Amino acid sequence: MEKRASFRTKLGVIAATAGSAVGLGNIWRFPYETGQNGGSAFILIYIACVLFLALPVMMAEFVIGRHTRTNASHAFGKLAPHSWWKYIGYICISAPVIIVGYYFVISGWSLEYVVQSLIPGGLSAQSAAEYNAEFNQFISTPIKPLIWIFLFIFINHFIMIRGVNSGIEKAANIMMPVLFLILIIFGIRSMFLPGFDEGMKFLFQPDFSKITPNVVIRAMGQAFFSTSVGMGILITYASYYSKSTGLGRTALTVGCFDTLVSMLSGILIFPTVFTFGISPAQGPELIFITLPNLFSQMPLGWLWSSMFFVLVSLAALTSTISLSEVSIAFLQDARHYSRRKATTVMTCIYLSLATLCSLSFGALNHIRIFGKTIFDACDYFSSNILLPAGGLFISIFVGWYLNKKLVCRELSNDSSKKPWYFDILMFCLRFVAPISIFLIFLSGLNLM
Ligand code: PHE
Repeated sequence: MEKRASFRTKLGVIAATAGSAVGLGNIWRFPYETGQNGGSAFILIYIACVLFLALPVMMAEFVIGRHTRTNASHAFGKLAPHSWWKYIGYICISAPVIIVGYYFVISGWSLEYVVQSLIPGGLSAQSAAEYNAEFNQFISTPIKPLIWIFLFIFINHFIMIRGVNSGIEKAANIMMPVLFLILIIFGIRSMFLPGFDEGMKFLFQPDFSKITPNVVIRAMGQAFFSTSVGMGILITYASYYSKSTGLGRTALTVGCFDTLVSMLSGILIFPTVFTFGISPAQGPELIFITLPNLFSQMPLGWLWSSMFFVLVSLAALTSTISLSEVSIAFLQDARHYSRRKATTVMTCIYLSLATLCSLSFGALNHIRIFGKTIFDACDYFSSNILLPAGGLFISIFVGWYLNKKLVCRELSNDSSKKPWYFDILMFCLRFVAPISIFLIFLSGLNLM
């Protein structure tokens, strides 16, 4: 049998896994969720959700992936032969394909905004209303967004085709430090803005009266999305970990890094927003409408704006890489495709899906799936149904079905000593995670 690829260095393990976690969820979704849900109280709950929900599920995925050293679908079959668990593997394979379809669309938009920021007169609208009109016109024309989306998919393709070490690991080792550097530069710049104090208060001074059940549920959903758990990505990545990779330590490092990046993007965005006296509770259009408008009113606005969208594009790319790896690894294992063939087949699927999602803002807007456009349906179906379902079953699988000794051995790298967090982890996987995820699920379906 062909030897399975494995990440070469410890840094590669962290960079690739953190790269999967850090994405649009941190820079696009986290700020507007925080803004809409009352600021720092939301953040406190979010951090608790990362610690007690997302990290346990992440470790569960690591255990499954590293123990079986195979793709997310086969892993379940290997650990639970002749059972229905293999169907859970199928959820884990399909969720990332659906997510990546619409993820590429937003990623493509961010490339367009890099270029628009750089060309003279590119982002020259005079008011938020004009930026709004420009954005809506851009996303609803058929061809222009597709050019950027295809370009993004091709960049993704050329990284993926190079395989686990020269592709994924190398790209993460280069992109993650650049991404972090850009965030630090923005953080320093924020300190000199008049809205800095107000922005910091909004982020770090909790107002507990703002906490409602809905805020808790939104924070849980954000924690899952942002750490990329619940869909087999981390099972696939962990299948490339070596026997000496500390699973608990890796999960904690990735969770902390992901949260730090979300905080830094909050520090980037809120002082800017308050400097211009704008409400922080904007929806998803925050980064494509409000921010370009604000940047354009600042000295060297083109520089800040282009740097910001480079940041968004890098963050998106490290996530699309991980999202696409799940099905590429599956095709390589299940059908014995070469890396090149598996990547090419998946790229063709992504091109078609992303085209449908992109056109759903214009030409295909009339096509509705349960009343939603194709883009919205993909987002809704994956974030509210597949992702929680994946997380729920993964936690039940490791918490209740798998042999406890196997889990313990895997987490302690085959030593006889039980890791200090083992009992807490099992408690979270058995009770806290399934119950909480079930609640997210109900609320996502508007049943609560
Ligand atoms: N975690 C990524 C983000 O924060 C998105 C993602 C979600 C990636 C689910 C993979 C799986 O944007």
